[in-house]
Formats: sequence, structure tokens, C-alpha cells
Amino acid sequence: IKKANGLKGLVDTNLEIIPNQCIQPKEQRLDKSQIDNQESIPTIDLSNFDDLNVEKSIQEAASKWGFFQIINHGIPIEVLEDLKDAAHKFFELPAEEKIKYHKEKVSPGESVLMFWSAIGEKDEKVLEWRDSIRHGCNPQNDSNLWPPQTSNQVLEYQKWATPLAKRLLEVLLKGLNVNEIDESLELLLMGTMAIIINYYPPCPNPNITIGCRRHCDVSCITLLLQDDTGGLYVRGTKGDNWILVNPIKGALAVNIGSLLQIMSNNRYKSIEHCAAVDSSRARISVPLFLNPNFDSVIGPFSQMLKDGEKPVYKHVLFSDHWNYFFGKRPSGKASLDFV
Ligand code: SIN
Ligand code: FE2
Repeated sequence: IKKANGLKGLVDTNLEIIPNQCIQPKEQRLDKSQIDNQESIPTIDLSNFDDLNVEKSIQEAASKWGFFQIINHGIPIEVLEDLKDAAHKFFELPAEEKIKYHKEKVSPGESVLMFWSAIGEKDEKVLEWRDSIRHGCNPQNDSNLWPPQTSNQVLEYQKWATPLAKRLLEVLLKGLNVNEIDESLELLLMGTMAIIINYYPPCPNPNITIGCRRHCDVSCITLLLQDDTGGLYVRGTKGDNWILVNPIKGALAVNIGSLLQIMSNNRYKSIEHCAAVDSSRARISVPLFLNPNFDSVIGPFSQMLKDGEKPVYKHVLFSDHWNYFFGKRPSGKASLDFV
């Protein structure tokens, strides 16, 4: 693999044969026979966000699907489009520019920007078909390390997305009988954040590769912007089926992360998902992870247990949970085995 320019650089060499390192074992590929066109995740119109029915549909979607799309959420469409354009500009830069941002490892509270890809993934035997850039951020500390190609666009997006995320969390918590997000709860739910910009170059054989392996997000919730290529698949209600998150212009996908599943004592579901790649188009996705402060303790809310309900999870330090998950890189539900 040509290391310096990631998967993008590799694809630019007009490659026709997939390097062995990028060929996924069968269980990591997207099995086409499991794709289910009968089910689809809900799309929720937030025009009347304060309407009780809207709140209810959000809470129900979080319990049943763990994944939903939102439209009319108030973020101007230009903000979303500009962010995707900026993402292309960054990943189309020459290798020398991108390599400057390469880092080995970060913790979630750290305000660090990192670029990674085929480059640097030392212990990974099989590579995902993507290049990514990630910026952890701590709202108390407003450092901005985004590359100039993306900086204004990301910050503008984050400015709009943060209050939207807070409002979604309020509605979700209301569904758990937690009626107010005070300062300490805000630190627990969104004390830190991270944004990843994923760039999935076109792939000559998408059947044997994967853009993003199946996993559940380690987050409270994740807001995901994707372009119109399509490629995001989530588990449906049958357990072994995959359903496409159909790209809708201007929409955002929202998913429950494993931490909110824990806090809700399994009322809300964190659903496994993966991203396939396209044979002719580069795809962009931008997840925004709402995470706890690094020193928070994660466990079921006391409101969940007050009628004698048994806790499904122990209380653990978020930092231990994080180190476990990202130290060993388990896939899918394994992220919940620890707690
Ligand atoms: C992710 O789950 O982190 C990425 C999903 C996507 O690319 O749509
Ligand atoms: Fe994800």
C-alpha cells in the first residue's frame, strides 16, 4: 500500500486489483443477501419540535430502531453542503499536506486533530476503505485545529448542530422520566464532542471491501451527515437484516450510542451499522459524537431503577470504557460486554 496518501492516494494510482490488506474476511463484508428493502428507519419532521407527538416519535424511534433521520431540523442546507464540499477539498490535497495531521492515538477529551487512513494503522491487519480526519473537542476549551480547508465549515456546522443535539437529548431524556438537563447532566451527555470526516474513495470491488466495519458508536448520541451516494446500513428489527439509510437531501441521521443504551438501562438501543463503498463515487460522511466528560461515571440512571428494576450494566468510568473499546477494537456489541 502506498502509505503517504492513504486510500485516496492508492485509488489515484488507477488500481484495478484490491490489495490483500484491504480484502475483508467474509464476516466483515456486507452480505447482500441480508439487505432488506422491506424495512426502513423512520424519518421525523422536526418543523414542530415542541409538539408532543414529535417528541413521542423520537422516543419511539430510539427504542425500536436506535436510528432515525431528521428533516426540517433548522440547520440551513448550505451549512451542510458547504461542509461536504470542504471535506472533498481536504482529502483531495496532496499527501504532504495531509500527513502533517497524522497522529497515533487520542483520548476523547483531548482537543486533537488527527488524520488517519491506511497510513499509521500499525496493528490493523485488514484496512477499511476510508481516510478520515477527527477532531476531539471540549466545549470548555475552544481550540480549533481543523485544517484551513475545513475549519470555517466545520465550526459553522457545529454551531448549529450543538443546540439541536441538546434539544434531541432533552426529548430523549424526557422519555426516560429525566425532566431537566442541568449542568452536571449536560457534562455527562455532551461534555465532550468529536467530529470525524470520513472520505471513502471509489473502490473497484466494493463486494470484498468495507468502508467502515460494523460497530455500535461509543457515544451518547451521534448526529450523522452523509452525502447522496448511499452506503450506510443499519441492523433492522429482524436482527440479521441490514437496512439502507436512504440519503435525503438536507436530512441528518441520528443514532443512539452505547452510552445512552447503558444510561437508559436498555430502553434505547444502540444499533450496529456499517458503511459500504461505491464503485464510482467518493462518499463523504460526517459523524458528530456527543460524549461525556472523560472523568464521568457511566451507568443506568437512578430513574430507571426506582421501581426495583435490575441494572443491566455496572457503573464504570467513561475513560475505562473508552480505553477498553478503543484499546482492543472489538466490533459491534462487544462494546457493551465490558460494563
Ligand atoms: C460511522 O458509523 O462512523 C460512519 C457511517 C457512515 O459513513 O455513514
Ligand atoms: Fe458509527
